[in-house]
Amino acid sequence: MSYRQHCKTLLAGAALATLGWGVAEADELTLYCSPQEEWCQLMVTTFTAETGIDVAMTRKSSGETYAQIAAEASNPKGDVWWGGTGDPHLQAAEEGLTEAYDTPMLPELHDWAVNQYEAADGKTVGIYAGALGFGYNTELLAEKGLEPPACWADLIKPEYAGEVQMANPNSSGTAYTALATFVQMMGEDEAFEFLKKLHANINQYTKSGSAPIKAAGLGETMVGIVFQHDAVTQKVAGFPIEVVSPCEGTGYEIGSMSIIKGGPNPESARKFYDFALRADVQTLARDAQAYQVPSNRNAEAPPESPDFSTIKLIDYDFVTYGSSDTRTRLLARWDAEVGSLPN
Ligand code: G6P
Repeated sequence: MSYRQHCKTLLAGAALATLGWGVAEADELTLYCSPQEEWCQLMVTTFTAETGIDVAMTRKSSGETYAQIAAEASNPKGDVWWGGTGDPHLQAAEEGLTEAYDTPMLPELHDWAVNQYEAADGKTVGIYAGALGFGYNTELLAEKGLEPPACWADLIKPEYAGEVQMANPNSSGTAYTALATFVQMMGEDEAFEFLKKLHANINQYTKSGSAPIKAAGLGETMVGIVFQHDAVTQKVAGFPIEVVSPCEGTGYEIGSMSIIKGGPNPESARKFYDFALRADVQTLARDAQAYQVPSNRNAEAPPESPDFSTIKLIDYDFVTYGSSDTRTRLLARWDAEVGSLPN
């Protein structure tokens, strides 16, 4: 570049800065994303096309992302944590890792999404809901001549030895939701007895929550304990999967979003936050085969989404099971009493 051109560039830069444009901060966003990769990608491309803001996105499971944000607390690298189960978002809020934001979008949201926001003093908000359950491979079931499983209790029967897969609750919010659901349905000691029996039938604890149903679709495991909408995704894609809403009832997630405290691009973070709560943006989920129930009352859930009115849901206590004390304690107990058992 010539000296003249260089001066011109400097002058243009100064003019833009005076107008408040060209400030690098507003043009970038680092997104930590915990739902399915396809949906993360779609959110990024749509947001960038609309705002011109470049997004650096990484997909990690909910528990892993919580741990990363905690580890980076003295030098935060991420701006927004979008999606993943609400419990670790609540824990992050309690531990001061995320920041309150007074979004103008709140009046458009369902009560369950606003409850999450209020429980965390505005440091997290609900973006979708999903009910826990499991799915099974119909072809493998027929080959083994087994009755279709319909209840949680079926999954600990000896005929399912080595046939069940779920994620590790430390890394995965899905699996933590399962752990907290069993504790709420059975009482803590009984839930751990159940989890030990279940362990005998588990062939693998995966890192990511939806991996077990992808494996079931491919015939690598018969049963995957996952959110029901993740099983729907595999079924819609043509895999031989049947979705089960367990007969005893089940827990659910409020998929959440939080702004990371002290992140490098706070202005972009707030833009993304408002964008992600819009009805038209949430309706896009179907294009990524994501079948959660959206939190904006005007967003349309895909017709394939599990119908919450037909699912026997427990009154999941998000405040207790998303608290730092309870989540830390239950995970440590799972490690000591279940995860460390031989298989
Ligand atoms: C899947 C589900 C989401 C859920 C997420 C949690 O992507 O579709 O609804 O929030 O899993 O992921 P994790 O890997 O933490 O279980």
